[in-house]
Parts: sequence; C-alpha cells; structure tokens
Amino acid sequence: MRSRGVLMDEAAALAGLWAQATSVAVLTGAGISTDSGISDFRGPNGLWTRNPGAQAMFDISVYMRDAEVRRQAWANRRANPAWTAQPNRGHLALAALQQSDRVQTLMTQNIDGLHQRAGSRDVLELHGTIWEVVCMACGLRWPTPEVLAREEDDPPCTACGGILKTATVSFGQALDQAVLEAAVRGTKRAELLVTVGTSLQVNPVAGLAGLADRLVIVNAEETPYDAEAELVVRGSISDVLAAVADVLG
Ligand code: APR
Repeated sequence: MRSRGVLMDEAAALAGLWAQATSVAVLTGAGISTDSGISDFRGPNGLWTRNPGAQAMFDISVYMRDAEVRRQAWANRRANPAWTAQPNRGHLALAALQQSDRVQTLMTQNIDGLHQRAGSRDVLELHGTIWEVVCMACGLRWPTPEVLAREEDDPPCTACGGILKTATVSFGQALDQAVLEAAVRGTKRAELLVTVGTSLQVNPVAGLAGLADRLVIVNAEETPYDAEAELVVRGSISDVLAAVADVLG
C-alpha cells in the first residue's frame, strides 16, 4: 500500500488537473460503494472474485427461463445491503464537486442509488437501478420496496402476469440507448474524464474511457486503460475524492 504522503500528492495532482479542466465527466463503478458496505465484483473481495459461478445468474436468458434462478435473485434482492447503505465520503465529495459546477456529467455503473442519496442530480445510471422493478412483458414499473413487501418468492406482474425484474441491466441485456448516448455526448464534450472505482472491463461502458481527450483513473487495481491515463491514483477513493473536494472547494 502506498504511503499516505504519496497518496495525497496524487490527490493534489488530480485536483490540479480537475481545476484546469474546462469541463469534467466522471464515471463511477462499484469501487466507490465498497466503503458503504456494498461489495464490488472483481476486487479482492468482490462478488465474482469470491464466487465465479454467480455471474451466470445475472444473465438475462437464464433469469427469464429458470424460476429457481429468479427465486434466488429475489432472495438476494431482499438481502441487498443497498437498502440500508449510506453514501460515503466519496459520494458526498462528488455531490459537492457537482454542486460547485466542477462536474458536468456524472455517469455510474452502480445500481445502488447512493449518488442520488448523497445529493447528486442528473445521474446517468448506465446499468439501471435496483430501486425500481419492471415487468419484462408489459413494461409496467413499481418501486422495488413495494414489490418486496408482497413477500412472494417470484412475484408476477399484477397487470399481465409477466416476469418481474429489477430495472438493472443484466448480462445479455441492452443498455438504455438514450442513457448511453447521453453518456457518450457528455464524455466527448468533457475535456477530462475521471473514472472512479471501476475495473473498466465491461463494455460498452468501459469504451467511454477510450473516448476522452484526457483520462484520469482512480482505482486500487490496474485497469486496461491505465496506459492511456495521464494520471492513475491508487489510493482509497473516499480519501482521494474528499481531498480533491477540499482543495477545489
Ligand atoms: N478505493 C479504490 N478502489 C477500490 C475501492 C476503494 N475503496 N474498492 C474497490 N476498488 C476497486 C477494485 O480494486 C476494482 O478494480 O474498484 C474496482 C471495481 O471494479 P469491479 O468490481 O469490476 O466493478 P465495476 O467496474 O463497477 O463493474 C462493472 O460489471 O458485474 C458488472 O454490471 C456489473 O456494473 C458492474 C460492471
């Protein structure tokens, strides 16, 4: 682990690049929520790291054809730590930076809603949200807590009997094109893209890192885009973003 002094030098370097940039886009991943008690996927204690088979459950075709997989998915949703998680200093720092007009586009792969709960607005949720349920047949939507309160292990749509799923993007499922197009526009318009807590391994979102004029990566581990980044900051996201927000006010 790097010494605190080195980390804060890197945070100061990031604050310098951030302050000079005429417009900044930020892309976050699961790494920003680990300090809120929500596991990431590919980090040392990540969901896929600990249980490589689990990823298959998140394939849309498996979910649609296998009632047992859906029952397990609903049990996981019920137990999801996101329902009680609180935004951490990283989320709060980004909300403050957005508030002081230091972030023009905020994009996330996270489905936990913590950016919004920290006070961020206009968050582009590229992989959807667990806070809503959608009927895969008729498209009707409900707040997830309402559907969980029905206490059924594979609740059908009350309007058409269709299969219900949280409004998240599973493997094999298309992203919302309007959200993705807004993310591409925001990244191309930005002078600087800062990626935070993402291993940049899942497309099409990872490809945003290749669209940026200037790229900074804040992540504990290597990503495929490190070589293209002007700066790579390996520190704890909460510490680094809080330091940047302190410097930029
Ligand atoms: N400080 C710095 N880096 C951290 C921290 C932290 N506190 N916690 C985790 N990280 C880093 C990990 O080292 C890892 O490289 O965050 C990164 C998270 O990467 P992933 O777990 O791959 O998460 P993400 O990139 O968001 O995954 C993208 O994959 O499984 C799908 O749909 C899912 O949206 C997700 C997508």
